[in-house]
Amino acid sequence: MSDRILVTSALPYANGHIHLGHLVEYLMTDIWARSQRASGRRCVYVCADDTHGTSIMIRARQERRSELELIAEMSAAHQRDFAAFHIRFDHYGSTHSEANRAACARTWEALRAGGYVRTQEVTQLFDPVEGVFLADRFVQGTCPRCGATQQWGDSCEKCLSTYTPMELVDPVSTLSGAQPVVRSAHHLLVEVERLHGFLDTWVRADGTLQPEIANYLTGFFLSGPLRDWDVSRPAPYFGFEIPDSPGDYWYVWFDAPLGYIGATAEWCERHGESLEDWWRSASTRIVHVIGKDIVYFHTLFWPAMLHVAGWSLPSRVQVHGFLTVNGEKMSKSRGTFVLARTYLEAGLDPTHLRYYYATKLGPRADDLDLDLDDFVARVNADLVGKLVNLASRTARFVTGQALPATYPEDGGLFAEGAAAHDEIVAAYEAFDFARVTRLVMGLADRANEWVARTEPWALAKDPARRDELVAACAVALSVYRQLVVYLSPILPELAGKTAALLGRPIERLAEATEPLVGVTVAPFERLLDRVDAKRVAAMIEASRASLPGSPPPADPPGPARETPAPIDEPVAPTCSIEDFERLDLRVARVTAAAAVAGAKKLVELTLDVGAAGTRTVFAGIKGSYPPERLVGRLVIVVANLAPRAMRFGTSEGMVVAAGPPGKADERQVFLLAPDDGAAPGLRVR
Ligand code: 2FM
Ligand code: ZN
Repeated sequence: MSDRILVTSALPYANGHIHLGHLVEYLMTDIWARSQRASGRRCVYVCADDTHGTSIMIRARQERRSELELIAEMSAAHQRDFAAFHIRFDHYGSTHSEANRAACARTWEALRAGGYVRTQEVTQLFDPVEGVFLADRFVQGTCPRCGATQQWGDSCEKCLSTYTPMELVDPVSTLSGAQPVVRSAHHLLVEVERLHGFLDTWVRADGTLQPEIANYLTGFFLSGPLRDWDVSRPAPYFGFEIPDSPGDYWYVWFDAPLGYIGATAEWCERHGESLEDWWRSASTRIVHVIGKDIVYFHTLFWPAMLHVAGWSLPSRVQVHGFLTVNGEKMSKSRGTFVLARTYLEAGLDPTHLRYYYATKLGPRADDLDLDLDDFVARVNADLVGKLVNLASRTARFVTGQALPATYPEDGGLFAEGAAAHDEIVAAYEAFDFARVTRLVMGLADRANEWVARTEPWALAKDPARRDELVAACAVALSVYRQLVVYLSPILPELAGKTAALLGRPIERLAEATEPLVGVTVAPFERLLDRVDAKRVAAMIEASRASLPGSPPPADPPGPARETPAPIDEPVAPTCSIEDFERLDLRVARVTAAAAVAGAKKLVELTLDVGAAGTRTVFAGIKGSYPPERLVGRLVIVVANLAPRAMRFGTSEGMVVAAGPPGKADERQVFLLAPDDGAAPGLRVR
């Protein structure tokens, strides 16, 4: 066990406000950090605004003010939004700080000293009006492959092909509307391939990365040579000038992760700690929480830089998926691109969102959906109906009174909750907050059954049964507090109110193993309100109204060309014929198909696979194929896929379909099928 834990979230760009998609990550990290502290560990959570790059420079120009003014305003707005959602950083810095400049310089010197840096002429499009080189996302034009207009400089949304901005037909700078010219400049590149062996070992180390992320990296990037990394940008650029290369600036993605070190250095300075203990010591565990879009930077370039410069390596990089709202990508026109501030201004409670996200966050990098109807129903049922109800139905009978000094007999109810302690601590450690909420709600169900059987409200009507009533309330309030203690990393505000009600602070998860005795119950004050569906509707309306048709905040400058396809759709590594032969693909006939109750897009298929028998397969294809159209048709099934237990039953294979990137159940898909006449059971080869 390490002496210290340092945890970080990715540094948010200073060119846009915090939205509900961002909050997934900051809430996830905050919950984890709080759970570590509540388990008795020393855990420091640092973050900072990511301030450099062309976007900020251009935006400041457009707004006729300095970059410094712009980033100061954004930092204040970000910190205000985070605080409103009870996200508590130990330190919140900025990549535009002297501490970060020093971390960059120290790392750069090591890269130079190791001979990892080389110079190369790089040709790019240049905006002659703004006087800047154009990153791919600042150029639009006609796709050189399919002729679609208004496509970005790196890829076409229509035909999905990728290309360089120089290949675009009729390119236009999105900054000025001018026609760009081709210009070259010298750049400084880091030879990452020389660290291939080191990265290969680091990526495979047990517990550092989720298995699917490690597989993605080894299969996609580390299977071939790594490209040199272009880490400089010529002036003008808002960033840090490279000390030994005047006129060149570190690329925003070079200094951004070093901002983790810069922010820690500032925290150390304020708290009399040594940076060496936090970033150059085996006794500190460093944990990064990031989205799946920036895996590449955090698991290849970043450990490479750290390794060369002698900084500590992260012991864990925890990757999460993207947020969808009502099953679809956040969209301005649908009003589902919701800023944190809009959520708050609609009068919605941050505690509700913290809980709902927690119910959806597991240890894998899966996308998570904020289904707004489910949000209302789940929060009201769980937090109000099951949890807070335990206190609100009993506390008023014992207001101002001391609970008994000995915990009453409860038929093993409290002990059952106490026994869940280790499992809950382990679930927090694994970032499996969905499991935490499931375990706690299971306990809440049992507690509510106990209260319903004991009927404190009936006991209250009979003064002769006062002792029984007090005992019943002591049990209900003890178990209520036990569950709030377990949820305290997720619901810190409710924990605070509960501490006030029951006269005892909530600090450690282990407190859930001790029943509440002898405390005096304070007058009951509302602990939590229900989610009001009308406010949710108002939030969506406000989001739609405030952002009429405008595009989402600009993408980061630069990384696009170095950024691979998102991990949803990796370019598959080469597979041998033997690999292919391991798949048992069979012709099958659909003999029955039915929509799955309670699932939006799932269809339950019964398949006749000839001699291989009958299979039940669940497929997310209802959006493209109404079940009744499926009966009788031929499909191809992966017949030797390991059975998968789903909420609705076990899926014993997978039907094969083609479709664009995205989640299978949320886009149009096309089932693959043999020509008529193929007999069920025939093997595909
Ligand atoms: O993707 C982003 O929003 C970046 N601003 C994250 C930077 S994380 C780290 F590298 F600093
Ligand atoms: Zn195209």
